[in-house]
Amino acid sequence: MLALWVLVATSCWGSGLVNAQPSPQVQERISAAIKKAASLPADKVDYTEFVNVFIGTDNFGDVCPGASVPFGMVKFSTDLTGYAPAGYVTDPTQTIRGLSPMHDSGTGSSLGTYGNFEIMPLICPGGFDSCPLTLAARERFRKNNTDDASPGYFAQTLDNGIKMEATSTRRAGLERFTFPKGSKPYFVLDLANDLPASFAGGHMEIDPEQGRITMGGLWGSSFGPGSYNYQAFACYDILDGGKQKLDEYGVWTGMTDEDFQTTGLGMTHLNLTRNLIGGVYESGALFSFAGQPEQINIRVGISFVSEAQACANAESEVGDASFDEIVARSKALWNEKLSKIEIDLKNTPANVTELLYSSLYRASLTPNNATDETQGPFANTPHPYFDSLYCRQGNAFWDTFRTFYPLMSLHSPVEFAQIVDNYIDGWRKLGWMPECRANNLPGWTQGGSSGDVIVGHFAVTYHNEATALGIDLDELYSAMLADAEINPPEWNTLGRQVNVYKEYGYVPFGVLDTDSVGRQTREGSRTLEYAFEDFAVRQVALLLNKTDDVATYTNRSLFYRNVWDPSVQSDGFQGFAQKRAPNGSFVNTNPIDCSPNDSNENRECSLQGDNVVGFYESSSWEFAPHDTAHLIELMGGNATFVKRLDHFFDAGYYLAGNEPSFQTPIGYHYANQPAKSVDRVREVVFTNFDITPAGLPGNDDQAAMATLLVFHLLGLYPVPSTSQFLVLSPMVPQYTIHNSYLGVSTTITTKGFDKRSVQKTIPKGVAAYVKSVTVNGVVQPTRCHFDFNDVFRVGGEVVIEVTADMDSVNSCGASVPESVSTGGFTTIR
Ligand SMILES: *[C@@H]1O[C@H](CO)[C@@H](O)[C@H](O)[C@H]1NC(C)=O
Ligand SMILES: *[C@@H]1O[C@H](CO)[C@@H](O)[C@H](O)[C@H]1NC(C)=O
Ligand SMILES: *[C@@H]1O[C@H](CO)[C@@H](O)[C@H](O)[C@H]1NC(C)=O
Ligand SMILES: *[C@@H]1O[C@H](CO)[C@@H](O)[C@H](O)[C@H]1NC(C)=O
Ligand SMILES: *[C@@H]1O[C@H](CO)[C@@H](O)[C@H](O)[C@H]1NC(C)=O
Ligand SMILES: *[C@@H]1O[C@H](CO)[C@@H](O)[C@H](O)[C@H]1NC(C)=O
Ligand SMILES: *[C@@H]1O[C@H](CO)[C@@H](O)[C@H](O)[C@H]1NC(C)=O
Ligand SMILES: *[C@@H]1O[C@H](CO)[C@@H](O)[C@H](O)[C@H]1NC(C)=O
Ligand SMILES: *[C@@H]1O[C@H](CO)[C@@H](O)[C@H](O)[C@H]1NC(C)=O
Repeated sequence: MLALWVLVATSCWGSGLVNAQPSPQVQERISAAIKKAASLPADKVDYTEFVNVFIGTDNFGDVCPGASVPFGMVKFSTDLTGYAPAGYVTDPTQTIRGLSPMHDSGTGSSLGTYGNFEIMPLICPGGFDSCPLTLAARERFRKNNTDDASPGYFAQTLDNGIKMEATSTRRAGLERFTFPKGSKPYFVLDLANDLPASFAGGHMEIDPEQGRITMGGLWGSSFGPGSYNYQAFACYDILDGGKQKLDEYGVWTGMTDEDFQTTGLGMTHLNLTRNLIGGVYESGALFSFAGQPEQINIRVGISFVSEAQACANAESEVGDASFDEIVARSKALWNEKLSKIEIDLKNTPANVTELLYSSLYRASLTPNNATDETQGPFANTPHPYFDSLYCRQGNAFWDTFRTFYPLMSLHSPVEFAQIVDNYIDGWRKLGWMPECRANNLPGWTQGGSSGDVIVGHFAVTYHNEATALGIDLDELYSAMLADAEINPPEWNTLGRQVNVYKEYGYVPFGVLDTDSVGRQTREGSRTLEYAFEDFAVRQVALLLNKTDDVATYTNRSLFYRNVWDPSVQSDGFQGFAQKRAPNGSFVNTNPIDCSPNDSNENRECSLQGDNVVGFYESSSWEFAPHDTAHLIELMGGNATFVKRLDHFFDAGYYLAGNEPSFQTPIGYHYANQPAKSVDRVREVVFTNFDITPAGLPGNDDQAAMATLLVFHLLGLYPVPSTSQFLVLSPMVPQYTIHNSYLGVSTTITTKGFDKRSVQKTIPKGVAAYVKSVTVNGVVQPTRCHFDFNDVFRVGGEVVIEVTADMDSVNSCGASVPESVSTGGFTTIR
């Protein structure tokens, strides 16, 4: 979401500045582990050692490298100044304001999200009243090139020598601070600050006997209406079970702008209301420890329900376990997730191993599991609950539904079902499924209701197991129908502008909509989006034998055609999606607008009110996935389509950092030229991804980028809301996907694999192009696609044979992938 930031920002800062963070030892350690693992038996492999959590912490990747368990609500990281939506960034010119327990990963919200309840260790030679307390006063540089982190562990050292470490459970964790010898440890604990500076009132209580500080309050959304608030609570236990002795304590307030701070030694209570005049109101606790202990351990619990629950979470999840024990438990949880895909470690290029497991790590980092931590309309729901659900929209298909959930469907149906239940619960409580939930609040919809595609993908893939997995398919379908049929009074955060969409067959530009309000922009991309969501409804209607609905939604899934203006030309190619007025005439904009080659660098292409191009975060050069055959016809046939795709890449219109571009490199499959897709995917991967902190082309968007990369490396691409997978050329010689719920494993072997093919341009004479696909001994008629039900549902052996002779295999051999208009997707298996 808001990936436009990336577009604008990379052009000023993206190149040149090579940051040295993290510690060089992180990469050395990972490389050594990968090397060593080549000779280990599979059950001795520690997959967490291959993960580089710093990938995506530079170049606006917005990844959180903090300590987290899979889907953890707690993600401990430091918070830095400057553009740092996930708290941490590599840029050594930015300073650290503290360590805090809650973050999101991969968010494009430029304001930043969470960062509440921050603690900063201090050395105050002048005593209590001399400590620097406000954000601006306390911020410090890091000790350069020492940042360290791995799954379940985070560490950063300040330029004054204080080392901060953290490890976590789902809702709690431990912090460990090591002070230079001979210094007295002081800590400032922040009640009011969060990254978006959204404090709306709160309170804090210090219990010096128990050594416990509790606090809570209200904050605002990082990506949604400013009029909503969420509540959060924390519980800090500061005596390490009696091993540490508190010295001074008190509260403080201050203002950065006015450059003042005031302390109240011995005071134990703060109760602050919302600061109506605006600005950052600063306040919190200050305390020190007796003696000169080198190490201080602090236990932290978090809750969205109450202080009492925050403390209970710390007691039940951490108890009196040691720091190292919590790290070990976290690692074990990560290994359970990461080992769902095993590869031939010996023969896979080391960078691919690192990219793959780092991506798989992020694929289980979010959304944040806030089950039993619900508030507002979701308070006490008996259903699973997840926070930080990313908006999924744009030009016909947004962030997570393209690759994130399809990857989950391969190996983690239980977790997938929990998230689907959470989507359905959104409909139960609010009337529509959530679209862009951030900070427990409805965030801005970027286009449609793509939760439909997510639950649709689940239904199509796991309908046989749905009941056992706790999903009632009729209820799931009702939730989809609400999104598709019920026009919300205000569609900026939930649902779609469906009444006018149904009336006109497209979302009209400049329409008088008397039924609902919303920001009337993005009419072109919203139409493409709604049509794809209608396709998902159609798929579930087909599954449930709702014959009338199948006809209705098949029809509506083709509404994308209604914004196709055959007369528009761009670079000699004819026919583009355009926004359209209620009277039927097109309102044309240049198809290159909002591509990387837009002549106007300042054009608004995102949610801004002056985004007038009709498209969201991409140009109208991109296209839709469920009916590509018809698009090819509209564009003038296969040959022209291939030329057009080539031109799209060669001209530089491809924008890897935004999701509408995900499927474009594989478009050649639909024109019966699959070997060209193989070339394009290699080019896309090695132009846009690598193992450095700057190794993502834009914000990770709840691991949408990570999961796209996983599919590229594995040589697969999913078609959302269907069971079809497109087959490409794997960049690993062999891998096995375990699905323990179905009790099956699927091993895919790349026969003829040549390491030299794993680079941007496949050298002449090197095997990489798919020659044949054999599933459990049966050679498939087509080498372009296969079905989940024939492969991952039954398990077994798949052999993808590759050859260097591109020309001989640049066709599917039989059917191209399916499209609605050519009779595709007619049955759900
Ligand atoms: C770390 O590097 C940055 C950028 O070069 C510099 O501004 C900062 O002073 C350095 N910090 C220390 C502690 O040397
Ligand atoms: C904080 O003060 C408000 C009134 O300003 C009061 O309603 C509330 O109960 C107080 N909260 C705590 C925790 O003391
Ligand atoms: C979320 O947390 C609940 C409660 O601990 C747990 O039962 C569930 O398995 C978790 N789900 C995921 C996907 O982590
Ligand atoms: C749908 O119809 C097919 C064939 O008539 C039948 O096998 C299947 O059980 C039906 N499915 C449902 C959900 O009713
Ligand atoms: C689709 O619906 C439109 C109007 O809603 C109708 O004019 C058209 O005939 C329908 N097309 C098909 C193929 O049913
Ligand atoms: C249709 O509407 C557009 C946009 O409001 C307007 O520019 C155009 O003149 C109208 N065309 C006709 C034929 O009324
Ligand atoms: C494109 O090629 C495929 C496979 O050869 C063929 O089925 C299809 O009809 C062609 N499309 C057009 C528009 O010619
Ligand atoms: C688009 O921009 C890229 C990078 O600046 C440039 O190489 C390319 O030639 C441009 N394409 C066109 C069609 O102007
Ligand atoms: C691995 O990635 C690093 C960082 O991008 C790069 O410098 C190196 O050349 C790559 N190694 C290989 C063998 O591709």
